[in-house]
Amino acid sequence: MAGLIVTIDGPAASGKSTAARLLAEKLGASFLDTGAMYRAVTLAAMQEGVNLNSEEELLAVLQKSRFKFGIKEGKTTISIDGVNAAEQIRRPDVTANARYIASAAKVREKLVEMQRNFAADHERIVTEGRDQGTVAFPDADVKFFLEADAIERARRRRSELLSGGSRESLGKIQKDIEERDKSDRNRDVGPLKPAADAIVVDTTDLNIDEVVEKLLNLVRKICLKKSQK
Ligand code: C5P
Repeated sequence: MAGLIVTIDGPAASGKSTAARLLAEKLGASFLDTGAMYRAVTLAAMQEGVNLNSEEELLAVLQKSRFKFGIKEGKTTISIDGVNAAEQIRRPDVTANARYIASAAKVREKLVEMQRNFAADHERIVTEGRDQGTVAFPDADVKFFLEADAIERARRRRSELLSGGSRESLGKIQKDIEERDKSDRNRDVGPLKPAADAIVVDTTDLNIDEVVEKLLNLVRKICLKKSQK
């Protein structure tokens, strides 16, 4: 298992991906974007045309496809059976369908196993998602839960979408985010919630540099305390 595991969980567009990636850089750690894993299985299942309500069919897709995750120039890279899928997994229909994969218990189990294998192969990791501090790494060294007001999260998502040329309205973006939060919080398996020992950070009034600085200081403080025990 990695010598340092930092988990960052939180709702959609809370800034956790960017924060996790930058924090990983500062700590010399490997970054794991678990949302990309759920998205990749969703895309593969859509391409195969399987019944998204069938856990068995979803599991078969996960087992037969070859997923490869990495990071290049600060971006998550992902290929499915050797084909680059980094852009496709961000499509709105993939985002909307990810909830089927996220509620399939057996698929989650397998993905959590892959996440733990990733941790076993790396000296330090920063991993982000919904269940990293609660299910995947209950013994993580440092756990964060990032939050932000839904309207602020919608603004952030809109500026991301605008840079990709999409012009969806702020209201529609906020509605989608709130629906996704609801489905993430209310599912039976791996629901979105802070671990009992997570540090909750509200990023509504913080820019990304301030968030990363805050997380980095907390990691240093906690690790120093542990090393003095
Ligand atoms: O974080 P991102 O928006 O890329 O995640 C896509 C979807 O994957 C989420 O809406 C959530 O339902 C699911 N997910 C999950 N558990 C994780 C990461 C993502 O259920 N650890």
